[in-house]
Amino acid sequence: MIKIAPSILSADFAKLGAEIAEAQSGGADWIHVDVMDGHFVPNLTLGPPIVQAIRPHTTLPLDVHLMIEQPERYIADFAKAGADYITVHAETCQHLHRVIHLIKEHGVKAGAAINPGTPAHVLQEVLPDLDLVLVMTVNPGFGGQQFIGRTVQKIKQLREWISQGSRPETHIEVDGGITAETAPLVTRAGADVLVAGSAVFGTADRAAAIEEIRKSVQV
Ligand code: DX5
Ligand code: ZN
Repeated sequence: MIKIAPSILSADFAKLGAEIAEAQSGGADWIHVDVMDGHFVPNLTLGPPIVQAIRPHTTLPLDVHLMIEQPERYIADFAKAGADYITVHAETCQHLHRVIHLIKEHGVKAGAAINPGTPAHVLQEVLPDLDLVLVMTVNPGFGGQQFIGRTVQKIKQLREWISQGSRPETHIEVDGGITAETAPLVTRAGADVLVAGSAVFGTADRAAAIEEIRKSVQV
């Protein structure tokens, strides 16, 4: 089952509650929340108070993507705010294994992300610990960028390792430039969670946008 996770980065921040409710009634499976610190990525977004504020507006899992340096400093706050998944970037963790286990100690599902320029093998040793692997299909920082096709090979490699390993249920999520055109390329390679920002919130009819992506990956 492919899951679609609209990213609120492209939503109207002045009415986030309503935007999220619309995504849920339009058929979203998860809500993707992009946290940026202006250091790891050249943009600033939101923190735990916003996650806490949106929590009552949806029953869907909140999938929190931390694009921040030293993410270990904020795991407790995001867990307390209501995150269901917390994903950290491998590039930001000196001790990736430790941070993954810190997330789990807070009762939250743990994810690890890699940028387009980072090889898949940096995640190989921690795959048995992960609930989710996030393969960035653009360089993180902004919505509305173009999908980088070479990332598809990494998705294939990671799916192979995951299905041969002790935790075959680990999700592979993709993030960046996902549309009805690019979605089939990544699901065929083994991705099962599709983040879509501008493709969903950049259109007036969110339900139709979600449906279009879902249809594109139905075999
Ligand atoms: C990019 C963010 C994405 C972003 C994707 O740094 O991590 O989640 O919202 O936006 P689109 O789908 O427009 O590429
Ligand atoms: Zn994201």
